[in-house]
Amino acid sequence: KALKLMVTGGAGYVGSVCAARLIEAGHDVTVVDDLSTGHADAVHPDATFVEGDAAEVAQRLLGDGFDGVLHFAAKSLVGESMTDPAKYWEGNVLTTLRLLEAMRDHGTKRLVFSSTAATYGEPESSPIPETAPTQPTNTYGATKLAIDHAITSFSRAHGIAAVSLRYFNVAGAYGSFGERHTTETHLIPLVLQVATGDRERIQIFGDDYPTADGTAIRDYIHVVDLADAHLLALRHAVDGEHRIYNLGSGTGFSVLEVIEACRRTTGHEIPAAVAPRRAGDPSVLVASSEKAGEELGWKPERTDLDGIVADAWAFTQSRQAV
Ligand code: UFG
Repeated sequence: KALKLMVTGGAGYVGSVCAARLIEAGHDVTVVDDLSTGHADAVHPDATFVEGDAAEVAQRLLGDGFDGVLHFAAKSLVGESMTDPAKYWEGNVLTTLRLLEAMRDHGTKRLVFSSTAATYGEPESSPIPETAPTQPTNTYGATKLAIDHAITSFSRAHGIAAVSLRYFNVAGAYGSFGERHTTETHLIPLVLQVATGDRERIQIFGDDYPTADGTAIRDYIHVVDLADAHLLALRHAVDGEHRIYNLGSGTGFSVLEVIEACRRTTGHEIPAAVAPRRAGDPSVLVASSEKAGEELGWKPERTDLDGIVADAWAFTQSRQAV
């Protein structure tokens, strides 16, 4: 059944890809974005676009027959969250609290929220299940965890069918929708900037981790697989329950393996230099997505690292031409 959906942060990376997949599945999508980090030209042409604060717009428009909200809008730079915590407690926690109040006020019954692996902090074991202790090591993760707790309370009290999806390392692109942060901190887009000549070399943050090649290991999930999990979450959400799922491909790749994949895909030598570890980086972060498989019927299909990098590279090259 076609749903009328509000997509906050739909001008951002994951939000724009998800909006595209929702529209292609026949849903009626309203994108809400304040364009603080998103891009107006990343809003899908078939979406209704409202520029503004997610909570304010939700309070104003949710009464208009919306079936649900997909809440992507957030501040998401780990480093900045440590130096400017107010921006994160306000922008993430307060905004989402107001959004939940708007949902309560208007009786909006479905929510899918972008949570993160950063809610777990330094894991005790690998892969990480949803039952792992949540001890975030940065403010970004702490704010996302606080929101998860608020969602649990609101879903119980007000009968909201809520799902939090804890993303691991999102990568890749979907045609003209991809990753284009003004402040880029993520590994794959930075490595590709070396291939386009916009950056001289990639720094490897630490080569003395307890891993096979000494560099840190992450679980890269293709943004399209991730977006499709949102569609399944919408379908399987249960009234009055808040369910939480980890989403990753289930395989870890080291920083060196990622750089190698980028070299293969781009044909560029991509000079790399070892630099000190980045503060707060765990050595290994790999998801167990078993629960999402069992309860949502989700199965990542784009798990090949070279394929993920190839999609990101095609997107990067298309942006070069703009
Ligand atoms: N890295 C480098 N050089 C760089 C950039 C990154 O070596 O120039 C390394 C990092 O140290 C890390 C790996 O590449 O080991 C991946 O780093 P990213 O910044 O791409 O991603 P993170 O794993 O740090 O962050 C991801 C999400 C965050 C989330 C976090 C959870 O992007 O939003 O996982 O810990 F908070």
